[in-house]
Amino acid sequence: MNSFTLKNGELHAENIALSKLVAEFCTPCYVYSKAVLESAYESFKAGFAGTDHLICFAVKANPNIGILNLFARLGAGFDIVSGGELDRVLAAGGDPKKIVFSGVGKTEAEMRAALEAGIFCFNVESDAELERLNRVAASLNKIAPVSLRVNPNVDAKTHPYISTGLKNNKFGVAYESAFALYQHAAQLPNIEVHGVDCHIGSQLTELSPFLDAFDRVLALVDQLTEAGIHVKHIDAGGGIGICYDDETPPDFSVYAKAMLEKLGNRKVKLVFEPGRALVGNAGLLLTKVEYLKETEAKNFAIVDAAMNDLMRPALYDAYHNIVPVKPRATEGKVYEIVGPVCESGDFLGHDRMLSLAEGDLLAIMSAGAYGMSMSSNYNTRPRAAEVMVDGDKAYLIRARETVAELFALEKRIP
Ligand code: LLP
Repeated sequence: MNSFTLKNGELHAENIALSKLVAEFCTPCYVYSKAVLESAYESFKAGFAGTDHLICFAVKANPNIGILNLFARLGAGFDIVSGGELDRVLAAGGDPKKIVFSGVGKTEAEMRAALEAGIFCFNVESDAELERLNRVAASLNKIAPVSLRVNPNVDAKTHPYISTGLKNNKFGVAYESAFALYQHAAQLPNIEVHGVDCHIGSQLTELSPFLDAFDRVLALVDQLTEAGIHVKHIDAGGGIGICYDDETPPDFSVYAKAMLEKLGNRKVKLVFEPGRALVGNAGLLLTKVEYLKETEAKNFAIVDAAMNDLMRPALYDAYHNIVPVKPRATEGKVYEIVGPVCESGDFLGHDRMLSLAEGDLLAIMSAGAYGMSMSSNYNTRPRAAEVMVDGDKAYLIRARETVAELFALEKRIP
């Protein structure tokens, strides 16, 4: 579903012209479509209709309370990786019994908070973490529900920075040692084995790595069952990619069908941790052209959004489509779309053919995932506002930061 469409010569978010949003909220500004968020969640869910499943939105992709609350109202669970994300989910009205806690570095305080909240499962990533969790749970007189995150050594065929399922990644327990660690976990007094977990990477555009990893997970589940360790759920992680340019990621329904086929008649709940696939194409970043600077070597369009607002191009050389809010009929030029930050890596797009004038508005597309969540205040730039559009209504879901807020915690020495 696409709710960002051209109507009367201007890009709209659902029924609202983007220039109208700029008049109210200024630039740079993240804009999300509620309809796209809902439809992504519902179509993911539709693939698993009739099977016991839990969709845990990966909070890191977009942790805004307004977005988490929307997913909570749709019945979603959440995949968290920090105590901060736990607090956010609870503040947003998320159900603690639908939370899975991933991440390689859980602190004792984070474990305590999650045990007190009564989360669905800890995705444990090492033997040392398992021992610590057992100890912390004992101190609270609680039993911790656990999955081990197994590392299936499968190539996710994605950017190396966001591939997590290979032997040389820091994530998970080596596949070969998982069985022994499960046997040990089953003996620990304050640990209860609930599931098996696996996440191999992000922005996967092919189905086969998911299926290869799932095969290995299922083989482990069968081996555990034979040994008398019965798991109640399998967490297949997240990672389904989206189309930024011309990628053709697997359709949710194709993914669901293939996974269910592999699962066969095993009686376990399926858990998923999609992030990007639920929010990526539900958001865009609105920015204004401040200057056009045409040099001998290149034409630069200097816009008021920068790498601190959307880090993906600078960090991964990621491609985001950039479109004019009011396209001009005049012939375009090839531009580097850059921000005001003092780094040569501060670009949002290379070699874009656009017809531009100072003051024009541009929409940086597919910015709903890992956009605002990875933003920073580099160069003392207040973070952008975030707005959710629902039909012909727009709601401010995060106010633009003020400069005073940015240094409010800092002090001079006496
Ligand atoms: N589960 C776990 C354990 C994860 O580590 C991640 C993402 C997800 C689920 C959600 O993956 P998704 O469905 O969104 O692919 N900043 C990078 C992406 C980093 C992903 C980290 N882990 C980017 O902008 O592309």
